[in-house]
Amino acid sequence: MTTNPTRQTLEALGIRGEAEILAQFAEVRRRFDEEAARRANDDAANIAVMRNAWIGRTAGAITHITDNWLKPAIPEQKRIVGKALNELKAHVERTLEELRTRAEAAGESGAGGARVDLSLPGVRRTLGTRHPLRQTLEELELIFLSIGFSVVEGPEIETPYYNFEALNIPEHHPARDTMDTFYLSLPPTPGKPSPELLLRTHTSPMQIHTMEQQKPPVRIIVPGRVYRRDNPDSTHSFAFQQIEGLAVDTDITFCEFKGTCEYFVREFLGPKTRTRLRPSYFPFTEPSAEVDASCFACDGRGCRICKHAGWIELFGAGMVDPAVYGFVNYDAKRLSGFAFGMGVERMAMMRYGISDIQLFYQNDVRFLRQFP
Ligand code: PHE
Repeated sequence: MTTNPTRQTLEALGIRGEAEILAQFAEVRRRFDEEAARRANDDAANIAVMRNAWIGRTAGAITHITDNWLKPAIPEQKRIVGKALNELKAHVERTLEELRTRAEAAGESGAGGARVDLSLPGVRRTLGTRHPLRQTLEELELIFLSIGFSVVEGPEIETPYYNFEALNIPEHHPARDTMDTFYLSLPPTPGKPSPELLLRTHTSPMQIHTMEQQKPPVRIIVPGRVYRRDNPDSTHSFAFQQIEGLAVDTDITFCEFKGTCEYFVREFLGPKTRTRLRPSYFPFTEPSAEVDASCFACDGRGCRICKHAGWIELFGAGMVDPAVYGFVNYDAKRLSGFAFGMGVERMAMMRYGISDIQLFYQNDVRFLRQFP
């Protein structure tokens, strides 16, 4: 069996000339490259074994070559052997380092030794989109923010006082029936009368909370979820969203009210849309109005969408009834203002031509994908 040539001197191998010396180095390098290719997928522990066999301080091949080929070489060979050895050593060290980094990276990624091909395109995760109701809500908020309103939010659980009484809707008032209410039954606390609580039927209670907490002037909008005991159909849901608006100051007239409505309608539905105020009734506004917009589909000529009226009802509104100021200690003689309350679902349905409110709640991606 031929012994490993690195364990013998060049003289013992019968090698003298430069070409023979270089051929000898080339052979060692070929063996090294062969092993490196074979071990390309080895784990870090195996690469460490190979590393020791090649550049280990006491028994590595490089050490043997240094001891057996370089040190005893005759002066004319020394320069040639030294240069070839340096090149071989650099190549071996560089390659071993590459093998080690690759093995460690594969180990960390848990790929179990599989190579990671960095030239492949990355994994693309599909990004979600904002829900159409969220998009509509943000659009509505921006319109009012642009004319000086700020956004506040409030509790979904209310007392009858905030949801009704302070809004000028006393007990047994027929207006309570139009908003069929979910009442909460709480476990009784011994010795205490259990508080009556309900799920707010509109965002209007926040008119009261806000005026209780801050002095005029007030310019707020209140987005939020409201609840009514309605059976679900294409226009009803037991939970939906509203945006309340309230502006109170010393110099707000019906003109500011009407102007704000018109500005809003043009911003939301386009500059050509006309606005109509139609007399209505809410206990907490006087006078009250339904705000209509000229039909976006037929521009007011009359079509199926507007049921041949030419107009589409948008939201309820009015000048704040002075009786409300009495509940929050605002000076009704000095102050005036307006309020409105719109359904976010209704606005979104108008805006996108959606005819079934239930689509918003079903999370069907075929529907949601239409609102990128
Ligand atoms: N809160 C009323 C409703 O839900 C809407 C409204 C708000 C009307 C503010 C006038 C003023 O029907």
